[in-house]
Amino acid sequence: MNSGLLDAFRIEYQQLLNRELRALVEKLDAPPVIKNSMIYSLEAGGKRIRPLLLFATLDAFGIDPKKGLPVAAAIEMIHTYSLIHDDLPSMDNDDLRRGKPTNHKVFGDAIATLAGDALLTYSFEVMDRLSDDFTSPAVKMRLVVEMAKAAGAEGMVGGQVADMEGEDKVLSLEELEYIHIHKTGKLLKYSVVSGAIMAKANESLLQNLSAFAHHLGLAFQIQDDILDLVGNQQIIGKPVGSDTVNHKSTYPQLLSLEGARAALQNQIKLSKEYLKKTGLNTTLLNEITDLVASRDH
Ligand code: IPE
Ligand code: IPE
Ligand code: MG
Ligand code: MG
Ligand code: MG
Repeated sequence: MNSGLLDAFRIEYQQLLNRELRALVEKLDAPPVIKNSMIYSLEAGGKRIRPLLLFATLDAFGIDPKKGLPVAAAIEMIHTYSLIHDDLPSMDNDDLRRGKPTNHKVFGDAIATLAGDALLTYSFEVMDRLSDDFTSPAVKMRLVVEMAKAAGAEGMVGGQVADMEGEDKVLSLEELEYIHIHKTGKLLKYSVVSGAIMAKANESLLQNLSAFAHHLGLAFQIQDDILDLVGNQQIIGKPVGSDTVNHKSTYPQLLSLEGARAALQNQIKLSKEYLKKTGLNTTLLNEITDLVASRDH
C-alpha cells in the first residue's frame, strides 16, 4: 500500500542527488565534450531507483540518508556508464535511452565509450567524499571493494558478457538467471548492502538485506524483459522489442508472458519475506518493492 511517504522522500533525495551529480561533473578539469557527454546521460531522466534504495536503507537504520550521498552518486554513475555502453552498436545497438537519443548517437561511439569509462573511474574517486566521521577508512575500503566486485567481471560485467554470448541461443532458465542476477542484480544489491555496511549491520541483518535485494534485483530485470515486450516506448523511454531484434533470451521468451509475470511475483514475494525478517522500519523499502513489481517504466 502506498502511504505517500515514498513520494515525498523520493522527490527530496532525487533533487539532492541530481544537484550533486551535476556539481561533481562540472568541477572536473577536463575537455568540455567529455563533461557534456557525461552530463547528457546523467541528466537524461533516469528513475534513480538504485540511489533511492540506498537512501531508504539508511533511513531504515535511522541514519540521515544524506550521509550516503557520495555512494548514491557513485552507484548512479556506474549504472549510467553501463547503459551508455549497453546501447553501443557493438552491444545492444539502441538509439533511444531515457526518452532521448542514446549517447553515441549524439557524441559518437568514441566519446560515448570514453564517457562511460570516465563515469566508472570517477565513481571510485567520488567514494572518497564520504565523511571520515561517518565512515572509518576500513569501512570506506570495504565499500569500495564491494562496489568493484558488484560492477566488475564477477558482477555486472560478467552478466553483460553472458548476455551477449547468449544471443541467438536458447538458454536454460538457470543460465538466464545467472545473466539477470549479474547484469542487473549485483549493482542493485550493492545499493542496499552498501547502506547496511555504512550502518554497521550485524551479519544476520546483512544476510537478510542482501537476500531481499537479490530477489528484488531479479524481479527488476524480469520486469525489464516484460516491458521490452509489452511496454510503451513513450513511457519506458527506450525501444520496445530490442531483445527480440537482438535474439536475446528473456523471461517472457522462455516462460511465456504469463510465466514471466508469475516469476516476477514470486521474486517479489521472496524479497518481502526477507525484508520482514530484518525487523527494521522498512516502510520505504516495502513501497519501493511494490513500485518495482508494478512499474511501467
Ligand atoms: C535499465 O535500468 C537497465 C537495467 C539494468 C534493467 P533502469 O530501468 O533503472 O534505467 P533508468 O536508470 O531508470 O534509465
Ligand atoms: C542491461 O540490460 C543491463 C545493464 C546495462 C548492465 P538490458 O540491455 O536489458 O537493459 P535495457 O533494456 O537496454 O535498459
Ligand atoms: Mg543489454
Ligand atoms: Mg539494452
Ligand atoms: Mg532490457
